[in-house]
Amino acid sequence: MKYMENIPNHLSKIDGQLGKLIILGFPFEELATNASFEEMIFLFLHNHLPNKNELDNVTKKLLSHRYLDEKILDVLKNAAANDIELIEGVRIGVSCLTLDMQSHRIDKEGINGALKIIASVPIITASYWRLLKGQPIVEPHLELGHAANYLYMLTGEKPAPEDVKTLEIYLNTVIEHGMNASTFAARVVMSTRSDFVSAVTAAIGAMKGVLHGGAPGPVLDMLLEMQKSGDIEGYLRHKFENRERLMGFGHRVYRVKDPRAILLANVSADVWKRREDKEFWGLAVDVETTALRLLKEYKPNRSIETNVEYYTALVLHGLGLPSALFTSTFTVSRVVGWLAHCLEQLELDRIIRPSSVYTGPSEQTWCPIEKR
Ligand code: ACO
Repeated sequence: MKYMENIPNHLSKIDGQLGKLIILGFPFEELATNASFEEMIFLFLHNHLPNKNELDNVTKKLLSHRYLDEKILDVLKNAAANDIELIEGVRIGVSCLTLDMQSHRIDKEGINGALKIIASVPIITASYWRLLKGQPIVEPHLELGHAANYLYMLTGEKPAPEDVKTLEIYLNTVIEHGMNASTFAARVVMSTRSDFVSAVTAAIGAMKGVLHGGAPGPVLDMLLEMQKSGDIEGYLRHKFENRERLMGFGHRVYRVKDPRAILLANVSADVWKRREDKEFWGLAVDVETTALRLLKEYKPNRSIETNVEYYTALVLHGLGLPSALFTSTFTVSRVVGWLAHCLEQLELDRIIRPSSVYTGPSEQTWCPIEKR
């Protein structure tokens, strides 16, 4: 097996030419629209859908981890006092899980260690979000599901069932996507026989950048700016002429529209029907049409289509989440994929060590400092 070039992955299969995404053998659309997030967590950690008993058990285990350790809270308070941005606070909080539970113990606990981290990410995110805004932290609600509790801890209000369902579809849609940058980062760390906390911390670092999980916030900012200026084409042409990239478009693997963007476009249409300011969704559709036309004009030799982050921005904004929360909300989901990859990597037990192509100078000789 050419292991270095092709890292084995039993979790997802992407066909970038046809725009298809298969998760553990299922078309992702079937899982995204039917499963609860707890069912998805079980599926990723056990590789099959849970029966009723198994679902009850995983739900109970997740609930047992639904708390924030005082030592981690202290660190987060410090970070908030220094106005550290949300995703960095989440990265700091996750790395501090070692304070709550020794990381070597987490790894020895295997799936339970993974559940601990999965349960902690939304709690750290929501708590740190409120600290940053100077609001009191909301204690976790032990009778709500994973997604509902996340919304509850962010807002302090029990969310409407239709909003919870929308969030679950979003979380299920973005839970896993092959060897993307953040998953690769997690697997590289895990491949050295390091630990889950270190792997997830590294993955969050990769997730943060605007070319990956940091894109949906700037998508929303861009849409809001165009709403203000009223000149969609002028705004977009200005971006192209300044050689800027349009956030929410393009993908390393997909050469057609990202299938997750198709699903989330429909989901966002439903969310925005429930809102008073419905016209914003119409603006986003007009922007997408104009952007795709201009991408063909400015980049005629490329197949640049809408990616998942474009409609992520519409779904999450439609749910009332501000753009500063988008990357961390993506992390609430993708951490499950990362940990499933970590478990796979642990089983493989082979270090990832890609080769590189040397591009430096040759035939140099030493020159003493006084002669340089
Ligand atoms: N806007 C303008 N030009 C673009 C865009 C874009 N969104 N995407 C690619 N291009 C251009 C590049 O400038 C480059 O042009 P050049 O060769 O003339 O210099 C060329 O297309 C590169 O095309 P690809 O090889 O298809 O793109 P690559 O694989 O290098 O990049 C990426 C993929 C990083 C996602 C890119 O499309 C991009 O920056 N998109 C915007 C950021 C974004 O939306 N990221 C989220 C991706 S989805 C996710 O990570 C969950």
